[in-house]
Amino acid sequence: MATTPNRPKIFITRQIPENGVKLLKEHFSVRINKEDRDLTQPELLKKLNGAFGVISMLSNKFDSELLSKLKSLKIISNFAVGFNNVDVKAATERGIAVTNTPDVLTDATADLAFGLLLAVARRIAEGDRLVRAGKFKGWSPMLMLGYDLVGKTIGIVGAGRIGAAVASRGKGFGMKIIYFSRRRNDEMEKLGGEFASLEQLLKQSNFISLNVPLNDATRNLIGKKEIAMMKPNAILINTARGEVVDENVLIAALKKKKITGAGLDVYVNEPKINPDFFKLDNVVLAPHLGSATFKTRAKMAELVARNAIAVLKGKRPPAVVNPEVLGRLSGKK
Ligand code: GLV
Ligand code: GLV
Repeated sequence: MATTPNRPKIFITRQIPENGVKLLKEHFSVRINKEDRDLTQPELLKKLNGAFGVISMLSNKFDSELLSKLKSLKIISNFAVGFNNVDVKAATERGIAVTNTPDVLTDATADLAFGLLLAVARRIAEGDRLVRAGKFKGWSPMLMLGYDLVGKTIGIVGAGRIGAAVASRGKGFGMKIIYFSRRRNDEMEKLGGEFASLEQLLKQSNFISLNVPLNDATRNLIGKKEIAMMKPNAILINTARGEVVDENVLIAALKKKKITGAGLDVYVNEPKINPDFFKLDNVVLAPHLGSATFKTRAKMAELVARNAIAVLKGKRPPAVVNPEVLGRLSGKK
């Protein structure tokens, strides 16, 4: 790709929608990893040599070791709302801005959470497998009965934007909403959501949706004790991060039908999936599709570009995770 000399370099670790690339090209000399795979850490280090910025994916790990070698880097513009792939503390210490893509993916992710919820409750994926296997023998009064949503309780863990958007969909389906978060949330309360402890939420909910970011406080938030509190008819939906749930405990609970089912978009060792999941009919497995709509990904592409351009210009990016570095950055320019 032709690059303009004198312009700061930015590297995009995977192909993203063209509108973002175009915007970046107005300000940067842009290079893109055109391969349909993640680069290894040594490859990433090589590609980022001399780069001002990187448009990174949630699968790119920016740990302190890598960051210590990226002397020219000023911005990690993450193509995701989650930024657990970046050691933000180490980035801040090195004066590197970290940005993300909140808001633009809220509805898409909440839609996917509900898609999984319906798929599990109404056994849609399991039904699809039955039909494809040629085992559909005609309408039957007792075939593949599932669960209603109306009148049921949905417990939402995490009252950020996505959690609130899940609540609004729950309300549309006539569900009772309870939520657990660090503090009361106006959006949730407006939707009729009741603030609850995690224990109350786990004990009362028919459906549980996880919508927290991954950090030290939420890693393994749902473990053995928590799953034991759930109702036997509980259905767990995870569109957050795999590590929020102890996967082995979940698998054991699904096997023994201690809970009714799960709908997962995220996994502990992504993209590796624990093969025990494949043997279970009461789990629906999606390949991390939360934000995967045309419109949302285009908006994310625009936002990652705007975040990077703002840092270049010494302005506050639309979505910055560590604003404390900004003063230092403009001072350096
Ligand atoms: C996707 O998982 C994201 O964090 O945007
Ligand atoms: C992040 O978790 C969000 O709700 O946008």
